[in-house]
Amino acid sequence: MNREELISEAFKAMRNAYAPYSKYHVGACVLTKDGRTFYGANIENASFGATSCAERNAVFAAYSNGVRKEDIEALAIVSSGKRIAAPCGICRQVLSELLEPETPIYLSNGTDECDTCIRELLPMQFGIEDVLA
Ligand code: THU
Repeated sequence: MNREELISEAFKAMRNAYAPYSKYHVGACVLTKDGRTFYGANIENASFGATSCAERNAVFAAYSNGVRKEDIEALAIVSSGKRIAAPCGICRQVLSELLEPETPIYLSNGTDECDTCIRELLPMQFGIEDVLA
């Protein structure tokens, strides 16, 4: 699966967004090196803090099925907004532990696109080495 196809899979995941409060829809898709895909959409809650973002849900789905960072080829994150949705701070923290620093992250809103990686999105992250040292 190429970059465009992965972005298109993330747009499919976006259809499953449950966002009655923000009406802001986000989809994400993890592609593994052996060609598997894991999907996530943002799932909101009346207790707003319980909302879970699309990219976290996609990466958690991959990990829940035994995938680990070294198995991941790329992650696509797409949104319904006018601007590209760059991952929120909590997602950056999560992705910094669960993705390799330079695993490609493709961002798109259907109009604009940006290719990045978690090393770029969250430099100087707090990580497992800090806790276990
Ligand atoms: N959201 C995501 O799913 N990913 C992001 O990186 C940014 C924010 C969701 C959370 C909430 O459901 C909605 O977008 C508005 O914040």
